[in-house]
Amino acid sequence: MTHLDFSVNVDHVATLRNARGGAFPCPVEAARIAVEAGADGVTMHLREDRRHIRDADVERVRAEVAAPLNFEMAATEEMVAFAERIRPSYCCLVPEKRAELTTEGGLDVLRAGPFLAQAIDRLRAAEVRVSIFIEADPAQIEAAARIGAQAIELHTGTYAEGPVAGRSAQLARLKAGAVAARAAGLLCHAGHGLSYDTVGPIAAMPEVTEVSIGHFLISQSVFDGLAAVVRRFRRLMDEARTP
Ligand code: PXP
Repeated sequence: MTHLDFSVNVDHVATLRNARGGAFPCPVEAARIAVEAGADGVTMHLREDRRHIRDADVERVRAEVAAPLNFEMAATEEMVAFAERIRPSYCCLVPEKRAELTTEGGLDVLRAGPFLAQAIDRLRAAEVRVSIFIEADPAQIEAAARIGAQAIELHTGTYAEGPVAGRSAQLARLKAGAVAARAAGLLCHAGHGLSYDTVGPIAAMPEVTEVSIGHFLISQSVFDGLAAVVRRFRRLMDEARTP
């Protein structure tokens, strides 16, 4: 089976830092430790209100961490211009509402205005690969391919955070989405809400090429240490992916 890339989202290291207004703990240092412990890449979401990650954090990860950066952002003029300048490996386009606690759902590609396609064209011209965070809905997946995305990121939140009794139905929906994505010529990423308990069945899907994990991973690190948590996730994913 193909290697599953594991991208560690360090946003909530910045949440902790910002709680006291200083420089500690540093999300760039967290990114370095995660990569040393076996992560394949780093994810950062620069939100409009800069509630966790700040511009300088992203610039420093680009300059100081030798691993692919998956840069999550809303498709706005401000963020597209920022991404054109820092040129991450991937831009993951997400919907963003100022009042939400976290990204609440996938991007609605079918109802997006003309700026989404322009944003994708500009990012691709800057040699940034584009993924779109969407629900596992075949119509959305086809629309993402049509509009020029090279990957989608399947929203795993309903599966991972919903009732345990509903998980097998949610997994079937995600599997169908992953198959549809690959059939449409897209790479298939997955993320949101994943934990030790829920990552295995996602990693076991051969169509999924990358997972990104943040909140649980950073929270568990308070108890066990970041490197140990990254290593345990890596092991769980490798075991699930071994036929
Ligand atoms: N993927 C996307 C597009 C996200 O917005 C987030 C949350 O920032 C994640 C993955 C990671 O989710 P979590 O922090 O719940 O692991």
